[in-house]
Amino acid sequence: MGKKCYPNEFWSKNRYFSSMKEQVIQSFREQFGKEPLLASSPGRVNLIGEHTDYNQGFVLPAAIDKKIYTAIAKNETNTLNVWANQYKQKLSFSLEEIYPVEGWATYLLGMIFHFRQAGHTVSGVDVVIDGNVPLGAGMSSSAAVCSAFGFALNEMFGMGLTRMDIALIGQKTEHVFAGVKCGIMDQFASLHGKKGHVIKLDCRSLEYEYIPFDFPDYKIVLVNTMVSHSLASSEYNVRRQQCEEGVSILQNHYPGISSLRDVNKEQLEMHQAELSDIVYRRCSFIVHENERLLKGCAFLNKGDLKSFGQLMFEAHEGLSKWYEVSCKESDFLVEKAKEFEAVMGARQMGGGFGGCTINIVKQAEVEKFSSYIIDLYKKEFAVLPLVYITQIEDGAKII
Ligand code: GLA
Repeated sequence: MGKKCYPNEFWSKNRYFSSMKEQVIQSFREQFGKEPLLASSPGRVNLIGEHTDYNQGFVLPAAIDKKIYTAIAKNETNTLNVWANQYKQKLSFSLEEIYPVEGWATYLLGMIFHFRQAGHTVSGVDVVIDGNVPLGAGMSSSAAVCSAFGFALNEMFGMGLTRMDIALIGQKTEHVFAGVKCGIMDQFASLHGKKGHVIKLDCRSLEYEYIPFDFPDYKIVLVNTMVSHSLASSEYNVRRQQCEEGVSILQNHYPGISSLRDVNKEQLEMHQAELSDIVYRRCSFIVHENERLLKGCAFLNKGDLKSFGQLMFEAHEGLSKWYEVSCKESDFLVEKAKEFEAVMGARQMGGGFGGCTINIVKQAEVEKFSSYIIDLYKKEFAVLPLVYITQIEDGAKII
């Protein structure tokens, strides 16, 4: 496919139900006339360590209080029937032969396909999908869809898979059914999130460590540029190729390296002349970003949010000038955030080319910051940006 299909807004704007859970169950009863199993899985933020996951480096994500919900029940057929609340439309797919489709349903098909490929029995299911993870905003709505659905299927068919197994199947789905050669960060975070903690994940060994994000006087604030990152899928894969090209050249000198994770600044500089300018810049960003992440974790452990924030600003500079995955809207938001004293750090978050900036803001000043940034952005781009004040929450669960 080679083109990322965002699971377009499939959640209902219906305010009638007191909770999303109630709303999803009610829709399921109306659509399928039975009781479902319900699972949810959240979107994520990433504090620092962008594009490092597919370079086998480190990332520092956390699951947030925006979730995708899936309600499912077996239907004793070999068909997937799915109702997306936003569209008020039901789609059906035969599971005799599964292949990628345009749009968000491809993620559900991909999960079933890969569970089966791993030797598990998954028969037909009825599904309702809903949620409130903003789409194309860099908060990993597609990973949340895969994780919620995968988590529910694992439970329903008694597959006995670990959260990591489900994350890896979600990643494969993204590769094969959406054509995005992503790393493991998003699926991992959606499944492994822990309330009040960020997770330092080693994307090579898949070992991870929960680090308390214990700063009650600060909030993680996301500002949505409202630029949907449509370039992201093709350019994302190009970035990955450029990093791989750098590694293959450096391997001529250092046969022991298998990714940019193994490369240090000195090695990179020593062989700069052998790399094209673009490949050098991409590799340089990744090598520095990994270093920033390790330093950043040390600052967090010491409770030094100010120094951590400085690293976020530096990371943005790298994302914008060296890795070139920012856009003028994100650059503007970060520049203005930097001028606001209560902002500790800010940068473009996620795959890039739009979506959200992540900002760490003094709680007492969050409201002021929101109106400040909204006003400036509106004046500059004639677009109203959305601001989300997030909470760090647990990962996927059966409800
Ligand atoms: C997207 C991908 C992740 C990661 C980020 C950038 O969200 O899905 O695997 O590479 O971009 O850090």
